[in-house]
Amino acid sequence: MENRRLTSYRVLEEVFDKGASLKDAYKRATQGKTARESDFIKEMTYGVTRKKLLLDWYFVKAVNKEMTNVSKKSKHLIRMAIYEIVFMKHKDYAVLSSIVDIAKENLRNQDKFVNWALREFLRNYEKVSLPDSNDKQSLSHLYSFPQHLVEYLISEVGTERAVQLMQFYNEKPDYYAFNIETGEYREFSTDERLSSKEYLLDPVYLNIFRFLQLEKVSTVLDCCAAPGGKSFLLKSFVKDAKITAIDKDSRRVDTMKKNIERLDLKDIKTSAVDILASDLNKVFDLVILDVPCTATGTIRKNPDVKYNYRKKLETLPSLQYSMLEKADEYVKEDGFMLYMTCSILNQENYAVVSDFVAKNGDYKVYSQFFSFGMPFNGGYGVLLRKSGGKDV
Ligand SMILES: C[S@@+](CC[C@H](N)C(=O)[O-])C[C@H]1O[C@@H](n2cnc3c(N)ncnc32)[C@H](O)[C@@H]1O
Repeated sequence: MENRRLTSYRVLEEVFDKGASLKDAYKRATQGKTARESDFIKEMTYGVTRKKLLLDWYFVKAVNKEMTNVSKKSKHLIRMAIYEIVFMKHKDYAVLSSIVDIAKENLRNQDKFVNWALREFLRNYEKVSLPDSNDKQSLSHLYSFPQHLVEYLISEVGTERAVQLMQFYNEKPDYYAFNIETGEYREFSTDERLSSKEYLLDPVYLNIFRFLQLEKVSTVLDCCAAPGGKSFLLKSFVKDAKITAIDKDSRRVDTMKKNIERLDLKDIKTSAVDILASDLNKVFDLVILDVPCTATGTIRKNPDVKYNYRKKLETLPSLQYSMLEKADEYVKEDGFMLYMTCSILNQENYAVVSDFVAKNGDYKVYSQFFSFGMPFNGGYGVLLRKSGGKDV
C-alpha cells in the first residue's frame, strides 16, 4: 500500500508539473483508499495548493535560499513538510523523517538537499514573521494569490475588499442542496444523503436565475448542459418547459441522464452534441449557454485555478464568443439567450458579451447579474433578448 504522503506528492506533481486539475488528480489517486487516507491526502494536497506561495515565503525566510534554486520535485516535498509542520501542527521530526524517506526512495540525489533544507527550516521557522505590508507583493505571499490576480482584484474592488475576497477564496467550500420542488436550498454536509428532489447547486446560480427574471419560456436549448445543474434549475422555475439538453462530453451526458432519472424530471431530452459542429435545425424560446470558463469563481473548491487560469484565458474568450455566435442560430426572433460563467474575470463575462452585442445589433442586454462571491461562489449571468429587428 502506497504511503499517503507519497500519494500526496504524486498528486502535486500531476497538478503542478503535468497540468492535471487538482480535482481529477485527487480523485484518481484516492480510488480504493480508505476515507481516513483520502482525508489526509485531501488536506495535504488542497492545503499545499491553497497556501503554496505562503509556504514558499516560509522556506525563503527560514532557509535563506530562493525557491527558484530548488528542483521541481524537491519543491513539492518541501512544501508538504512545511504545510504539515506549520498548519497541520504535526510533530516536526516525524514529518522530517517521513519526507526525507520519500526523497531517498523517489528523488535520486536530492535527499541530502531535502534533509539539509528541512533541518534548516526546523531551526528557524518559529522566528519567521508574515509579510506585514499591504503592497501587492506582500498580499500575494500572504494570501498565496499570484500577483496578477491580486492586481486584478484590487483594480476591480479596491484593496480592502480584495483582501476580504482572498480570505474567503482560501476557505474550504460550503456545499448546498437545492430542492427543485420547493425552490429552496440548505447547507449540505458531504456525509449526508440528498433527498430524491435535491441536487448539489451553489446558490449563486439561483440568485442569477431569480434576478434575471426569466420570462415564461416553453422551449429551451441548454447547449453546455451536463451534468444538468442549470436545466434542472430552469425546471424548478418553469415546470412545464421542454428542454433539449446537449453537451459534447458523452460521459458527462450519461451522468446527466442518471441525474434526470433520480430527480424524476420530465421533458428533458439529452444527447452528446458539440454545439459548434451542430445542425439542430430548430429554434427555441430560450437558449442557455453555460460556457466552459476558467472557473475563477470556484477557487474555494478548485484552488489550483489560482495558478492556471491565465493560460486558459489565452483561448477561452474566443471559444466563448464562437459559442455565442453559433447559439444565435437557435434563438427564435423575440427569444432569449442566457449566457453564464462561474468566472470572476471580466474578459470572460461582459467583455465577451458586449463584443457579441456590438456585432449582432438584433441583441440587447435584458438583465445582468455578477458576483465576486461571498458567501457563495462567484459567477456571471446575462439575459440577452433577440429583437428580430423590432425595438423591445
Ligand atoms: C460549466 S460546464 C456546464 C455545467 C452545466 N451547465 C451544469 O449546470 O451542470 C461546461 C460544459 O460545457 C461542455 N462543452 C464544452 N465545449 C462544448 C461544446 N463545443 N459543445 C457542447 N458542450 C461543450 C463541457 O463538456 C462542460 O460540460
